Amino acid sequence: MARISVDDLTFAYEGSYDNVFDHVSFTVDSRWRLGLVGRNGRGKTTLLRLLQGLMPHQGFIDMPTAGVYFPFEVEDSSLPTLQAMEQMAGDAPQWILRRELNLLQVGEDALYRPFDTLSKGEQTKVQLAALFSREDVYPLIDEPTNHLDLLGREAVGDYLLGKDGFLLVSHDRAFLNRCITHVLSLNRKDITVTKGNYDTFRQEMDRQNQYEFGENERLKKDIQRLNESARRTAQWSRTIEKSKVAGEYSGNSPDRGYIGARSAAMMKRALNVQRRQERAAEEKSKLLKNVEKVGDLKLSPLMHPKKVLVEVRNGTVRYGDRMVCQDVSFALRQGERLALSGKNGSGKSSVLKTICGLSEALAGEISIAGNLVISYVPQSTEDLQGNFREFVQGNGLNETLLKAILRNMDFGREQFDKDLSELSQGQKKKMLLAKSLCEPAHLYVWDEPLNFIDVLSRMQVEELLLAYRPTLLLVEHDRAFLEKVCTGIVEL
Ligand SMILES: Nc1ncnc2c1ncn2[C@@H]1O[C@H](COP(=O)(O)OP(=O)(O)OP(=O)(O)O)[C@@H](O)[C@H]1O
Ligand SMILES: [Mg+2]
Repeated sequence: MARISVDDLTFAYEGSYDNVFDHVSFTVDSRWRLGLVGRNGRGKTTLLRLLQGLMPHQGFIDMPTAGVYFPFEVEDSSLPTLQAMEQMAGDAPQWILRRELNLLQVGEDALYRPFDTLSKGEQTKVQLAALFSREDVYPLIDEPTNHLDLLGREAVGDYLLGKDGFLLVSHDRAFLNRCITHVLSLNRKDITVTKGNYDTFRQEMDRQNQYEFGENERLKKDIQRLNESARRTAQWSRTIEKSKVAGEYSGNSPDRGYIGARSAAMMKRALNVQRRQERAAEEKSKLLKNVEKVGDLKLSPLMHPKKVLVEVRNGTVRYGDRMVCQDVSFALRQGERLALSGKNGSGKSSVLKTICGLSEALAGEISIAGNLVISYVPQSTEDLQGNFREFVQGNGLNETLLKAILRNMDFGREQFDKDLSELSQGQKKKMLLAKSLCEPAHLYVWDEPLNFIDVLSRMQVEELLLAYRPTLLLVEHDRAFLEKVCTGIVEL
């Protein structure tokens, strides 16, 4: 039997008052290539931890085979890659490790270099190869694409397409479409399982939403009509009461039997209307629960008197005696949105950091417009710590504005009470991105702004950039995004 079933699961992190899961149940087949999607902080990583049996919880989790998590915690990353892989792969034979690496297009020579000298993209592939070399385990793969360039994403997508049975968390639309057969989605109010790839799931969700919007309109009209009719009944019965009283004093004798029957009928009608009102309201309250809120984002770009904000000629990036890239030449004019593109480890982040004055790795003829105000989003979120207030004060930000932006990106109110280190990966990156959106600047420099960010917020950022057209220099590997927002690409 290959069923993974979760029954009536409830879970909260210790010391936290919001439940990540609240009485949820679902069943999936462990032989599916299953994508796990949902907005940042919904509990995807938490679910993977629970499926590994790592944390106490209420309810039942039934796994046919043990779950193994990607990324691994590499104990000693200075070991030769082959040894590091053997630790991850349990006792899988070497020929299998080599076969899997080969499928992922990693050269044999990587096996003999220390693991920590491999590029991040190569490290990802090595870990996946080790994971799929193991027998009788269920792979739980958490966001493998973040360090992969475009070609790397395609290679890993094709690799996964050749496998049976795994659970894969990703926010990359093209990547998911390439390799999954089913979608498990953590929605606002429930969990759904859909057959098909990411696009099929999205269409299904849109169809469902549209149906519910229609139903919602119908019920709204019903309720309005019933209110109207309740008001008429009330008015009628008041008139009758009046005519009873008037009858007694005027000496006219009204037909008491007739009035009695009329008010009884009226009473019945009023009750009926009330019942139908309640039913309609209840039906209505069941609709639209899952509709995700996606508001518009705002930005305040500044105008600079110079046309060209940054120009680099014959740039080189070097670490020690290792040449990372050379012949870097580009000019960034106001209003342009340039993406630096290149393989993992080709020096993209170093170029960005040098322009922001945070590094000196890039050498050459570099000219930067005077008094240029830059807003920078770093690639890594590791430096985030302390509470929300400290983050606001430490960076001189407008708290109200920052909160409004984050709320707009689906942050729940309770998230602001947490220590930043307890946020999910995507929530951390959203914190850095929202900080940049708060900062008026001539130039926005964003290093992989979409890493870990959920699909709906990726779309929000696309809309924002097209609406405000800021000057932007960025590194990003999401193909759909680049095609939509960039005015040019610089190959390193
Ligand atoms: N160690 C922790 N302590 C307290 N709360 C935590 C901890 N880790 C995660 N959380 C909270 O639990 C919720 C779910 O987090 P989780 O990391 O599972 O989300 P996710 O769906 O994987 O998000 P992302 O797409 O950003 O990776 C979030 O609200 C997060 O703030
Ligand atoms: Mg996660």
